[in-house]
Amino acid sequence: MLKKIDTKVAKQAYTNASDKIAGMYVSHPDNSLAYSHAYVISNENLRFTTGLTRNMAKKVLTITGSGDQALFYSLAGATHIDTFDVTYCAQAIFNIKTGAISKLTYEEYSALLSNLYKNPHSARVENMDKVMQNIPTQTKQFIQEMDNYYIFANGLSPESYPNNMLTKAEFETLQHSPIQPIKFIWSDAMHVHEHLTIEYDVINLSNIFEWVPESTIPTLESLRPHVRIGGYIIAHTSSILAPKNAQQFKMAQEKFKDWATLGIARDKNSDEIAVVLQRTK
Ligand SMILES: C[S@@+](CC[C@H](N)C(=O)[O-])C[C@H]1O[C@@H](n2cnc3c(N)ncnc32)[C@H](O)[C@@H]1O
Repeated sequence: MLKKIDTKVAKQAYTNASDKIAGMYVSHPDNSLAYSHAYVISNENLRFTTGLTRNMAKKVLTITGSGDQALFYSLAGATHIDTFDVTYCAQAIFNIKTGAISKLTYEEYSALLSNLYKNPHSARVENMDKVMQNIPTQTKQFIQEMDNYYIFANGLSPESYPNNMLTKAEFETLQHSPIQPIKFIWSDAMHVHEHLTIEYDVINLSNIFEWVPESTIPTLESLRPHVRIGGYIIAHTSSILAPKNAQQFKMAQEKFKDWATLGIARDKNSDEIAVVLQRTK
């Protein structure tokens, strides 16, 4: 599901394109987010959230994010993964990651992520020549045309999250069982349901409602037909629930009580939390 990529519009979404400092390209809410820069690493420990439904989550819809979500769901046993994101750059980093896993060593892969974060010449960083041969043409063209824009500089550097990186063993597992082609839906969370045709075991809305709490109830409601009875919608939140979010989840708990239960899962090690909705009807 791909709208037409328009790099002219994409470039307008960035300011200070010649500035060399990574992280300067904050996409303010009033800017178009359709091309906002992607994360190269998840700021969440995805072993926690994907572990909550290990081996039962075969059909998964997840935010694309840094691309790590799909990789970790695959490691946790998913066999059908669709992803969605408001920005096309998220799909680009996902395609780079899957392209790189089959071509590079673990050490090269790790260095690639750091370089993509720091360097606005994505197509020219070390080893990207090998990866570019191995990614879809549209993504390849997009990356080439966005030369000199920090399209992968969102969040912090990969070195800031050593525990969130794939381990060497996880990387090698993915090398031996590459993940199946996935459908990318270029949409915000509120409208993603318009593009869905199947029921999933798990839908992961990692780290979104923090920014748009008012979309919590309509989004969860719209996704009910797309999660199977007994299945889960998981909203990982990387920080302690802000009062605005807590209030929305409380309202959702009351409003959806005829068809869902809502609870909180907490990771003992990292203290990260996730709101977990289970469809009961
Ligand atoms: C909020 S960010 C946080 C980083 C994320 N935890 C990760 O692991 O990549 C997650 C992703 O959500 C996307 N996003 C933010 N708001 C969204 C929305 N309303 N609908 C769909 N995607 C959204 C961003 O483009 C980003 O790729």
